[in-house]
Amino acid sequence: MDLAYMDALPIEEFIQRREKIGEQLADNSAMIVFSNIEQRRNNDCTFPFRQDSYFWYLTGFNEPDSALIISKQNAQITTTIFVRPSDPLMETWNGRRLGVINAPTKLRINKAFSIEDFKQEATKIFKNLTALYHYQGLQPWGDALLNEAFSTPPQYISWAPILDEMRLFKSANEIRLMQQAGQISALGHIKAMKQTRPNRFEYEIESEILHEFNRFGARYPSYTSIVAGGENACILHYTENDQVLRDGELVLIDAGCEFAMYAGDITRTFPVNGKFTQPQREIYEIVLKAQKRALELLVAGNTIQQVNDEVVRIKVQGLLNLGIMHGDIDELIKNDAHREFYMHGLGHWLGLDVHDVGSYSKDTQNGNRNSKIRNRPLEVGMVLTVEPGLYISPKSNVPEQYKGIGVRIEDNILITEYGNKVLTSSVPKEIAEIEALMAESH
Ligand code: GLY
Ligand code: MN
Ligand code: MN
Repeated sequence: MDLAYMDALPIEEFIQRREKIGEQLADNSAMIVFSNIEQRRNNDCTFPFRQDSYFWYLTGFNEPDSALIISKQNAQITTTIFVRPSDPLMETWNGRRLGVINAPTKLRINKAFSIEDFKQEATKIFKNLTALYHYQGLQPWGDALLNEAFSTPPQYISWAPILDEMRLFKSANEIRLMQQAGQISALGHIKAMKQTRPNRFEYEIESEILHEFNRFGARYPSYTSIVAGGENACILHYTENDQVLRDGELVLIDAGCEFAMYAGDITRTFPVNGKFTQPQREIYEIVLKAQKRALELLVAGNTIQQVNDEVVRIKVQGLLNLGIMHGDIDELIKNDAHREFYMHGLGHWLGLDVHDVGSYSKDTQNGNRNSKIRNRPLEVGMVLTVEPGLYISPKSNVPEQYKGIGVRIEDNILITEYGNKVLTSSVPKEIAEIEALMAESH
């Protein structure tokens, strides 16, 4: 059975989302959304199943091999779900199934069929329709089913812009779950600070974090945790986590839990032995100053781009003061010289996915999803991360004492009518607070 928290969102919310889709569909059209399928790990073992976020968003149904159709004919909306059929033998070996009979009542969907009857039943639904909304390529197994169902597949319209825009704005219930995700993620980081010691391995600290997530009801992390000691912090997506944590070095931890399908995403950087050295402190203070300024500026009406410009200026000024960069601040920024030390964005949308969906660009809200210009004004109900960092590669040409230092500080915020609310504030980030917490537990 699902974890209790899988029922954390009222069923009405899923119904309302489907109704909202129904309103946006052209008459005599349908939208089809496929679930994830299980991913083979080796032989007959699979990776832990994680539902497709779009499919979850519209159904709250956590089984593989399923498909949802929302159809609109003569202004009448019908919802149909295809699920795995009940099968006592398969259920004995591989786990319970909701089954065709139970699906309509449990999911409050009009009709249900076995996924094995997809071709026959979906063809009937599509017969009199003039348009089909489908996200080609997202679920190749679904593309294959549709290819079988149609002798000539129609010109699909992508539903991604519609669903992305809906997912970008979090409801009161979603915010409640994201607050939980933020708080549990924060507990994991506090535990990590308390448990870190010289000579422990990175993966041991990872396991402390995962254990803390589990204790508070989040079974999985929302992405593979990064526990990066010393210069490993300069590898942005370091996930090997197999090295020893050394006295005198920092450790950068980027870890978040998934609670009721919603992601937390926190980074903290702190000294393995509990005390910052002077050069570590200097770099850390620049990042912290930039992050605090970003938290002041990320409010409704401002854009991520504008705020990042300010963050870049703070960092470049800080690096100039330390003799890590040289020259004229405006010239350096114009030439992107800071990208040697800050090579990622300021943050990203957060929700069911850790890198959540939604357009970042006001010019391309309904078009090109890959635009790099983050000029969309923030609005109430958006949730995003704020994660400035500085990474001084051991190979960079800078004063010796700074080489190999990597610092990132990441929090999650909700844009509100009054500014923003930090969902992850309970994990310390001031140097004095971190040192005090670590001193207590060492
Ligand atoms: N943990 C991935 C990120 O911070 O974007
Ligand atoms: Mn992160
Ligand atoms: Mn992030």
